[in-house]
Amino acid sequence: MKKVMLVFGTRPEAIKMCPLVKELRQRKNLSVIVCVTGQHREMLRQVLDIFRVEPDYDLAVMQDRQTLFDVTVNILNKIGQVLEIERPDLVLIHGDTSTTFVTALACFYKQIEIGHVEAGLRTYDIYSPYPEEFNRQAISILAKYHFAPTQLAKNNLLKEGKKEEHIFVTGNTAIDALKTTVRDGYEHPVLAWAQGYRLIVLTAHRRENLGEPLLHMFRAIRRILDEKEDIKVVYPIHKNPAVRSAAAEVFGSHRRIRLIEPMHVADFHNLLANAYLILTDSGGIQEEAPSLGKPVLVMRNTTERPEGIEAGTLKLVGTQEDGIYRNFQLLLDDKHLYEKMSRASNPYGDGNACGRIADIVCVEDKKGC
Ligand code: UD1
Ligand code: UDP
Repeated sequence: MKKVMLVFGTRPEAIKMCPLVKELRQRKNLSVIVCVTGQHREMLRQVLDIFRVEPDYDLAVMQDRQTLFDVTVNILNKIGQVLEIERPDLVLIHGDTSTTFVTALACFYKQIEIGHVEAGLRTYDIYSPYPEEFNRQAISILAKYHFAPTQLAKNNLLKEGKKEEHIFVTGNTAIDALKTTVRDGYEHPVLAWAQGYRLIVLTAHRRENLGEPLLHMFRAIRRILDEKEDIKVVYPIHKNPAVRSAAAEVFGSHRRIRLIEPMHVADFHNLLANAYLILTDSGGIQEEAPSLGKPVLVMRNTTERPEGIEAGTLKLVGTQEDGIYRNFQLLLDDKHLYEKMSRASNPYGDGNACGRIADIVCVEDKKGC
């Protein structure tokens, strides 16, 4: 029987890998092992609970205010032991986090085959996003199978000389998750609080934005909040204390913004579905918003997800206060622009990515499953 191990460690990886765990567990002749690195703790647990996935291994590496050195070294030591015990035929990893890069490196040291889910995203600027762009490029060197969410991602991999027979366009598993969560008639206390206002959803957490860029973003939003009486902002805030202190400094206790704990993914998807617009530096939200037809101002200088820009739902607005302020104001004031950006489109697939990946994992196994 073929043994497949899935390794992930942060919230977004879990959201996109748990549906795949469930799909693979339905296939016969596959032994499925789940190892979480615990790069995140509470934010990971929330997702595991909601998808009812209980890991076989939890490396529990998270430390408060961890550095890239902490995460890298702690995962590398521990994952090596798990690979030694389990000796999987294939390891599946996701995206671009430190968990993913370090697991790929450990598999390479152990000469274990890697399948990379959400492969081929690129900005080609090694410092943006940081360190994720480096992670992705390095993982693509080490992986054997590349599960690309879109044709564009596949083209990137082809340009880099990866073998065509090992690249599969599957769609993004984020959409698989989204299909199961958004529903009509959804109710939540923050939605009740925002009733009668235009609801703005905010998230921001990127490592390269900690410090000044975060303060710029928050100041721009604060200015708009002070000027526009008809908006309310909900910010489910990342657990990182560096993010929390910056938000507290700028927003204080403004009566039209709620800083709340990270939401369960089903609640968060429904919050997005009820938003007027979204401001974020997140990667995953750039994939989810186009399907929901929600305009997104992406507070970054680059994106590895140009499909959403092409579709018209996303706009890159940088990390400077004035640029964010101007674009936010324009989108609130210009009805025509708002409607243009609100058209739902689906650049990331039909929500059946996990089934496709599982089929490929089985076909590549000579025994089938
Ligand atoms: C990581 C990923 C990033 C991804 C993000 C998703 C890397 C280098 N970065 O960044 O690509 O977009 O996750 O959110 O892999 N913390 C908690 N509890 C939690 C999670 C985090 O307290 O459940 C706090 C800890 O103090 C931790 C800090 O947040 O040290 C930063 O976590 P870390 O995983 O290093 O960085 P992220 O910014 O979350
Ligand atoms: N998300 C969530 N709860 C929240 C905020 C976000 O479940 O309070 C989900 C969101 O729907 C998306 C993912 O978390 O699927 C994005 O994670 P994050 O922004 O932390 O990381 P990134 O995608 O930037 O790597």
